[in-house]
Amino acid sequence: MNSNYEDFIKQYPTYQTTAHIDELRAEEYSRLDRANLIYLDYTGGGLYAASQVKAHQHFLLENTFGNPHSSNPPSLAATKLVESARSYILKYFNADPNEYSVIFSANASGALKIIGESYPFEPGDHYALIFDNHNSVNGIREFARNKGADVTYIPLTLPDMRVDQAALESAWNKAQPGANNLFAYPAQSNFSSVKHPLDWIEGAHTKGWDVLLDAAAFAPTNWLDLSQYKPDFVVFSFYKIFGYPTGLGALVARREALSRLQRPWFAGGTITVASVQGDNYYLAEDYAAFEDGTVDYLNIPALEIGLKHIESIGIESIQERVHCLTGWLLDNLTAMKHSSGVPLVRVYGPITTEARGGAVTVNFFNAKDQPIDHRFIEEAANKVNISLRTGCFCNPGAGEVALEISREELDVCFNKPGHENRLTLDDFRVCIDGKSSGAVRISVGTVTNYDDIQFFLRFAEGLLD
Ligand SMILES: Cc1ncc(COP(=O)(O)O)c(C=O)c1O
Repeated sequence: MNSNYEDFIKQYPTYQTTAHIDELRAEEYSRLDRANLIYLDYTGGGLYAASQVKAHQHFLLENTFGNPHSSNPPSLAATKLVESARSYILKYFNADPNEYSVIFSANASGALKIIGESYPFEPGDHYALIFDNHNSVNGIREFARNKGADVTYIPLTLPDMRVDQAALESAWNKAQPGANNLFAYPAQSNFSSVKHPLDWIEGAHTKGWDVLLDAAAFAPTNWLDLSQYKPDFVVFSFYKIFGYPTGLGALVARREALSRLQRPWFAGGTITVASVQGDNYYLAEDYAAFEDGTVDYLNIPALEIGLKHIESIGIESIQERVHCLTGWLLDNLTAMKHSSGVPLVRVYGPITTEARGGAVTVNFFNAKDQPIDHRFIEEAANKVNISLRTGCFCNPGAGEVALEISREELDVCFNKPGHENRLTLDDFRVCIDGKSSGAVRISVGTVTNYDDIQFFLRFAEGLLD
């Protein structure tokens, strides 16, 4: 690796337009450099600025908040802040409050479960999704199947791990007119970082599908404009966008689509009236019907602080910085070769910055072109204070395509005696003997800098023969 900062800037001059993020990192994220921590797991979780925590703490220390289901002054104070956060989220995504509603959940998975259990699937209905989905989107297929709906998976093509438009159209053409058809995909893959086109939303609508957009990996470094793109349901987790607090996500839903969902139960907070002797209940209107029990009213005010923090940095600056650093990482990593000529890494997904985000997923290979176990890479990285993620990142469809694990191999494994009800990850590794069961994901985010990437590249260089 004979490159330096001047080469980097020559290749990615727009990095300099993000210099304010270096200042911000020095002031607000100094804990990273104090601990010499090279944090490269932003797709796993974003990092918070010190000022976010201080502002939230001040808020809690200076006020008294009570359960919003009561009507006393501390309760009303909490209600005001929860409603203010709800409005701010819509404003952040440029969503018309007459068109969209915000439902608070524990995380993106919680928001997805609301859709899964409430979408009115029936025999003749359809759930279509691409291979490249998080397990919490895959899991909705169990609700669909249990209610008799068909499930269709749309494959990915190698090497870029994108979706072939013809395959997509053919799945969309399966929608029965007038039936309930739900199409789900991630705006950005948490495995390959491919950005799947947002104009699929309009395309699927035209063919009679409701659209569920998983924005969990996309929202932290890209802006989603809900006045331009109009999915029926959008989900995300806030800690991935600005690090603090954990334990909160949201379902942003078109009010019209929300009105077609059917909740399978009622809970405290979701009804106007419920009766024991009368054995009846009436669901509340709009978002209230979907928020079970008491919302996280002490943490919800921290969401507005977090969103304002991102706005003060500028999501375009974050996106630009991530673009430059990802490009540099890809350029240098893919150029590394053993003396035998064997490339050090195989990248799963695009190797240019075109329509992709800031996660680079790879496996490392030795000079004989044999894969190096991803667990070994993680252990080696941990020893030098580099934080990355290994495994399949809860995205088995993308993992199976990337690692070329076939349907037949999986069938043999799952049908093997002893594997009827229980299969550990170690059993699974034995099943697909000789192949990697996971990969290494290096993900870049809001306050990653050039030095972080250089440190990682030097670490990678140390794996050459
Ligand atoms: C694309 C994507 N969707 C959904 C999720 C689920 O998020 P959570 O674990 O916060 O529920 C993740 C988490 O990694 C993700 O990357």
